[in-house]
Amino acid sequence: MDDLTVIVLAAGGGTRMKSKTMKVLHEVGGRSMIGHVLVAVKAMEPRRVVAVVGHQREQVGPHIQALLPEVVLAVQETQDGTGHAVRVAMDALQEQVGEVTGTVVVAAGDTPLLTGESLRAFVAEHEAAQRAVSILSGVVPDPFGYGRIVRNAEGDVEAIVEEKDASPEQREISEINSGILAFDTHFLVSALPRIGNDNAKGEYYLTDAVQLAQDDGLTVGAYPIDDVAQTEGANDRAQLAELGRELNRRVVTRWMRDGVTVMDPATTWIDADVVLAPDVTILPGTQLLGATMVAEDAVIGPDTTLKDCEVGVGARVVRTHGELAVLGERATVGPFSYLRPGTRLGAGGKIGAFVETKNAEIGEGSKVPHLSYVGDAEIGRGSNIGAGTIFANYDGTTKHRTTVGDGAKTGSNNTFVAPVSIGDGAMTGGGTVVRQDVPPGALAVSAGPQRNLEGHVARRSATARPTDGEPQTDPGVGQPPPGGPQS
Ligand code: UD1
Ligand code: CA
Repeated sequence: MDDLTVIVLAAGGGTRMKSKTMKVLHEVGGRSMIGHVLVAVKAMEPRRVVAVVGHQREQVGPHIQALLPEVVLAVQETQDGTGHAVRVAMDALQEQVGEVTGTVVVAAGDTPLLTGESLRAFVAEHEAAQRAVSILSGVVPDPFGYGRIVRNAEGDVEAIVEEKDASPEQREISEINSGILAFDTHFLVSALPRIGNDNAKGEYYLTDAVQLAQDDGLTVGAYPIDDVAQTEGANDRAQLAELGRELNRRVVTRWMRDGVTVMDPATTWIDADVVLAPDVTILPGTQLLGATMVAEDAVIGPDTTLKDCEVGVGARVVRTHGELAVLGERATVGPFSYLRPGTRLGAGGKIGAFVETKNAEIGEGSKVPHLSYVGDAEIGRGSNIGAGTIFANYDGTTKHRTTVGDGAKTGSNNTFVAPVSIGDGAMTGGGTVVRQDVPPGALAVSAGPQRNLEGHVARRSATARPTDGEPQTDPGVGQPPPGGPQS
């Protein structure tokens, strides 16, 4: 496998997706289908990778380049068949990197379950057998649509016959061409110009190389893969969902084998790039997405979605939606919390029920327990933010920051009108609207003194005399008492 070239075919239209997004860009398990294929390809450490693009190449090309910057992109203007696509790829290589030797592997861009291990085993077998062509084949219950592997009485591969060109007997064959082929490069280069398009589809079939190898007296073989799901592609969204579910089943199973407790695998979704430590517990209805990382002994769920989050050792996250948030050791979050990007909660800290946070650094042991919005804020260590506090970060044009020091205790139903800062150990009274900085150790209050209007209730009932069942309105109701805060 020292001199390996991989060609990934991604020029086809994928019309059955009925989508403005190209087929291979549709995602399962947090990656595009072609992203999964490229991960498997990279695991083989090939010398070169060529991607053949055509349909919507302005979408597909940059996506592939972002995932694999060293890729050679070959443009297939018209989709004249897999043989034509590989020829375009070899021409692009010739032009951009010169003479190619060794082994060429051809794969499709829409097989998200394919693994690097399977590809490696296939190529190792191909190279050890010194064949001109090897086919990664599979035995499937419903071979309809696939190229069939035709073997002779000795069991040697004779040809690949496409569905549309197959005789009724050949259609009975259940061993199929997965579409993943390995070639000796010298043979491939000599075969490509000899492939014609005299067949049912009028296309240049790469699979005709098998016949050409026979004609040249070279060896051809098929290597059946046990796990055929790895070679399955998604042509429409129903198949995409099925592959997604199967991929998830595999990912979840792997994490359970690695020591993660998953109470309900059927309602747990874990993206391919998520990293979990042993003794993490995942409760039902949980989605761990993107590049989320969860450390030992953390408990996530039930009913929690975390995307690109980092969860510390022993943290607890209940019924929460989080994105780009970092939670420290033993931190607790939820139920019903909304963690937006830039949330950082220190060790032992708390973000409680009905709290939304954004660009908020909440220090070690600090707590925002109830019903609050914390945006563009920095809270020190060991502070407590009262229930129902709004960090008013937006003045209608610009966002501003609020800082709260260490050991501060703020009252319930406060508004912090940013930019403002509350010093270490400071306190605020209930209902305070903080518009000016609060010095360390001070108590800030802003509500006016309370006034009690003696006898008001009795006076009000005396004026409210319903006639004809029609309630009468007290002219005073809904009006602030004279001298109240709004007058
Ligand atoms: C192909 C194989 C068939 C195999 C099946 C597995 C041939 C002739 N047939 O058939 O034996 O069982 O795959 O799925 O090879 N593509 C291009 N350019 C083209 C044509 C195709 O890039 O001009 C790409 C497609 O985007 C796709 C892959 O090649 O990723 C396979 O093409 P597709 O048209 O799906 O081939 P099948 O008819 O399914
Ligand atoms: Ca296909």
